[in-house]
Amino acid sequence: MPADLSPIDKAKFVAAKRAVEYVESGMKLGLGTGSTAAWMVRCLAERIREEGLKVKGVPTSSRTAELARSLGVPVVSLDDAKWLDLTIDGADEIDSQLNLIKGGGAALLQEKIVATASDQMIVIADAAKEVAQLGAFPLPVEVIPFGWQTTKALIEETLVSLDVLNRDCTLRMNGDAPLVTDEANYIVDLHLKRIGNPRQLSLVLNQIPGVVENGLFIDICDIVVVGHGDGRVTVRDINSGEVEEDHIDLVPSDNIFSDSDD
Ligand code: A5P
Repeated sequence: MPADLSPIDKAKFVAAKRAVEYVESGMKLGLGTGSTAAWMVRCLAERIREEGLKVKGVPTSSRTAELARSLGVPVVSLDDAKWLDLTIDGADEIDSQLNLIKGGGAALLQEKIVATASDQMIVIADAAKEVAQLGAFPLPVEVIPFGWQTTKALIEETLVSLDVLNRDCTLRMNGDAPLVTDEANYIVDLHLKRIGNPRQLSLVLNQIPGVVENGLFIDICDIVVVGHGDGRVTVRDINSGEVEEDHIDLVPSDNIFSDSDD
């Protein structure tokens, strides 16, 4: 591992490398989006190269599809794969029940569809993503462009009766224009500061016309692998209740760092 890799990238790398140990030949995999998931795609590509692992990957964004193809990871659509063995993805926040906020990279819709269509979801993250309560990270909500201001107003009005600390909502921008997702929608970020009841909030948000999906992942994640800059990893399995401490060797000759600019 190059010495100039930041501690946070080392943490993301070791989490990704440990999670990829769960992959077996023949599996159909959901490939997450974001900087941590990009490490997972690199680690997966390395196992494909070195062990001849046979897998098919369903990417959760155009970015991930491009990275996977460029590294020789076979890519298929979800409709071709139909059902997946395992999805590995990052997250913006993780609570003690393994409920998540996702969508910081604007890919929450495909991410949720893919993770839900998987037997198992493993989330990979650095330790900063673990929180006692969700909500410090703005909650992304994907909305259709038609009437988005009305949808945003409805979201704000709905939040009045919910257990949240703050109710500011902002349209996510890409320079001077609204950010457009892979599904040609917009993202409204909800700056809630604290989410008292994530399950209720998720259900209520998805009842609002114009809302396509929200970034709360409730009861979807099975295992969280948290990495640290010194190679330590903690693996938490919500179903078995087991917590395992592990260590991943940071191999100096690793050649998977050449494109690590995601
Ligand atoms: C993408 O839409 C997100 O859900 C990402 O998985 C999440 O933002 C984590 O991204 P990083 O791994 O880059 O922090």
